Amino acid sequence: MRVIITGAASGIGRAVAELLAAESGAHRLLLTDRDAAGLAAVAEAIGPTAGICVADLASADCGDVIVAAALAHMGGIDAVVSNAGIIAGAPLVEQTAELFDRIYAINTRATWLLAKAAHPHLAASHGAFVATASMSATQPTPGLGFYSSSKAALLMLVRQLSLEWGPDGIRCNTVSPGPTYTPMTKVGYDDATRRAQRESMIPLRKLGMAEDVANTILFLLSPQAGHITGIDILVDGGMSNNLMPATGGGSGQKASQ
Ligand SMILES: NC(=O)c1ccc[n+]([C@@H]2O[C@H](COP(=O)([O-])OP(=O)(O)OC[C@H]3O[C@@H](n4cnc5c(N)ncnc54)[C@H](O)[C@@H]3O)[C@@H](O)[C@H]2O)c1
Repeated sequence: MRVIITGAASGIGRAVAELLAAESGAHRLLLTDRDAAGLAAVAEAIGPTAGICVADLASADCGDVIVAAALAHMGGIDAVVSNAGIIAGAPLVEQTAELFDRIYAINTRATWLLAKAAHPHLAASHGAFVATASMSATQPTPGLGFYSSSKAALLMLVRQLSLEWGPDGIRCNTVSPGPTYTPMTKVGYDDATRRAQRESMIPLRKLGMAEDVANTILFLLSPQAGHITGIDILVDGGMSNNLMPATGGGSGQKASQ
């Protein structure tokens, strides 16, 4: 498989690259990120099957730049993992128009730009497109109004792509991580109290790891998901089912007559 991965220098994107490389030496990867040093380190560890493209997803030409690099390295594209994203928190009334534009450019617009540029090549290969959304796309998240709404838009963008591209034989899906331990969240979750508080809300009682999300992305790229398109897979340890606090009724309480 010839795969583009954004956000490949860190966290979930890096795990996708490493798992694909471990799965088959035949996979060719185009790793892209704005972090040149991190990207070089991941590519060096994988070896010559991995090419790199340093690009800023906030830029309007990022899709064309990345697809050109992918074609130069791999000669075609079978899959795109549009994974990079940024998070920034504050109440909405304190936010600025500049930050709104930046978060939506990276978290939402870049996926469309990359999809648009990759479309003819994915149509030629009957390929797969996977974007990393978030549990916050469907759960309003205190202090993260731009982030959660940009991810909600991303979910619909990819569902829309799945309709438009289905006749071309291209599958389009999203994964939505819940709380996941990566460099993005490390500062918060290295605080034992905050981590314990978070984990108490997760039925599986543990944070997700980058590999948990990456394995789900690999499934969506694989032939085993060959009839799946337009869906979102939550990788949240069950947290989204655990939002109703106990009322004190408790187990064993008799039903009222
Ligand atoms: N970690 C979590 O708890 C969590 C939860 C839900 C969703 N997500 C989503 O998962 C995805 C991956 O996050 P992660 O946890 O691996 O974070 P991470 O910070 O470890 O990795 C994100 C990567 O994206 C790159 N990136 C950021 N802005 C960029 C830009 N403008 N141009 C190019 N590259 C850029 C960063 O350099 C970094 O390498 C993101 O879309 C994030 O929103 C993460």
